[in-house]
Amino acid sequence: MAVERTLAIIKPDAVENGHAGAILQRIEAAGFAVRAMKLIRLTKAEAEGFYAVHRGKPFFEELTTFMSSGPCIPLVLEKENAVAAWRELIGATNPANAAEGTIRKDYAESVGRNAVHGSDSVENGRLEANYFFAEHEIVANQA
Ligand code: CMP
Repeated sequence: MAVERTLAIIKPDAVENGHAGAILQRIEAAGFAVRAMKLIRLTKAEAEGFYAVHRGKPFFEELTTFMSSGPCIPLVLEKENAVAAWRELIGATNPANAAEGTIRKDYAESVGRNAVHGSDSVENGRLEANYFFAEHEIVANQA
């Protein structure tokens, strides 16, 4: 299996509720290497840019208002098969459908306030990582 990178976000609900540390612990326990991380409050326009693919959908306004409502923590995560592994760890978008033991099952409040984000492909992970981080902010393995 190939080593991949994916873009994760600990969303404003999880930061506000004090779950960022617990989510980071799960990330490390699952064997992901954190290659980049920052705390940032998106403007509405930045949230709209990040989620541009969803523009026009009924939840776009709610989503971008929520994502700009408080600080969030984007991270670049790396491990073998990282895109699928992170999506498995976070669980279904709607926490009502999320499996036991997943991050969304334990920390998400609703489909809108769902604690974390994960890229859906390696290519989108690269594009999304570049949305938040300059090249020099993504730290390569020093080994
Ligand atoms: P995320 O993985 O960040 O990608 C797009 C987000 O849109 C998704 O998580 C949800 O938080 C949000 N979303 C999807 N469907 C709905 C919906 N029906 N109502 C509100 N938000 C939604």
